Amino acid sequence: MVDPYPFIKPLLLRLDPETAHELTLRALETGLVPPAAAPPADPILAVELFGRRLAHPIGLAAGFDKNARVYGRMFGQGFSFVEIGGVTPQPQAGNPRPRVFRLPDDAAVINRMGFPNDGADVVEGRLRARGAQAGMLGINLASNSSSADPVADFTGLVARFAPYAGYLTLDISCPNTANGQLFLDPARLRDLLAAVAAVPLTAPRPAIVAKLSPDIDAPLLEALVGVLLDARIDGIVVSNTTARRPPLAGAHGSERGGLSGRPLFGASTAMLADVARLTGGSVPLIGVGGIAGGADAYAKIRAGASAVQLYTALIYGGTAVVARIGRELAALVRRDGFTSLRQAAAA
Ligand SMILES: Cc1cc2nc3c(=O)[nH]c(=O)nc-3n(C[C@H](O)[C@H](O)[C@H](O)COP(=O)(O)O)c2cc1C
Repeated sequence: MVDPYPFIKPLLLRLDPETAHELTLRALETGLVPPAAAPPADPILAVELFGRRLAHPIGLAAGFDKNARVYGRMFGQGFSFVEIGGVTPQPQAGNPRPRVFRLPDDAAVINRMGFPNDGADVVEGRLRARGAQAGMLGINLASNSSSADPVADFTGLVARFAPYAGYLTLDISCPNTANGQLFLDPARLRDLLAAVAAVPLTAPRPAIVAKLSPDIDAPLLEALVGVLLDARIDGIVVSNTTARRPPLAGAHGSERGGLSGRPLFGASTAMLADVARLTGGSVPLIGVGGIAGGADAYAKIRAGASAVQLYTALIYGGTAVVARIGRELAALVRRDGFTSLRQAAAA
């Protein structure tokens, strides 16, 4: 199978990032993008996530398919799980443009999109029309920027989207909206989780997970993880983008917003290891931030991740990265004498 991305990439990268993204979504929607090879069907890559067996641990991170337009196609691009969203109850325009910046010299992106999305009605309509797809679907949930009751936003979204999801992510770590990080406060988080736990859900209920920011210090992280464990959270996603600025090589580094891609790898992986230590393997962790190759994915797994996600690497490498990461990861696991990813994570 010929990967068309190397031919298309120079054109896409000449366009404004959001225009390039919209063209990509349309090409996927209309079937113009051929399916990409999945990672090899290799039992050493199989993982269990939230009670379901996945052929490999590589998923699509939130933000690529905010509005549930192409999630089925993304399974066809090789991902074993796909997280759509962030979805808010009401449609939202997001911040003024420009609000997404490529940093090609750093293999990074800065975005301050502020959750532009079609809103829960439209997104649910698409999910209802398209139904279940080949892999596990995650749905990333967020409150509206102007919401007077962010807890009610989350509980309403959980009730509405539970029937469609393998897992629901409470995004409590968006650096780009007024109340995006409101729940990075232990007392507030406790109230949110109690309200979410009180939402009546019919079986099989989806896993409920929380997505953390890499920008919190060690005492706060310990407090937040304690609250999450007390509330019997089903999983933790580590991490969202960073508002911090590690040294960057190229232009746009001073734009406000969340930094993703290679410069996020170190901080997000260190935090993943901290969360793994604090949780002691009691809940599955999804490692995300700066993964572009098998060695990156392997480092996340060795730090304690049950599965990984990526987004920014797609911009620079296209979906061929998924199969490559799978191949490289399998080789690294074998090199170190492990027989499963789970064994590698526990070692
Ligand atoms: C343009 C863009 C939009 C994003 N939107 C969301 C979002 O709506 N919700 C969310 O939880 N994370 C969002 N993210 C963060 C990603 O899901 C991921 O946590 C982060 O980009 C780190 O992974 P990466 O380095 O592989 O991109 C977004 C990232 C980018 C680049």
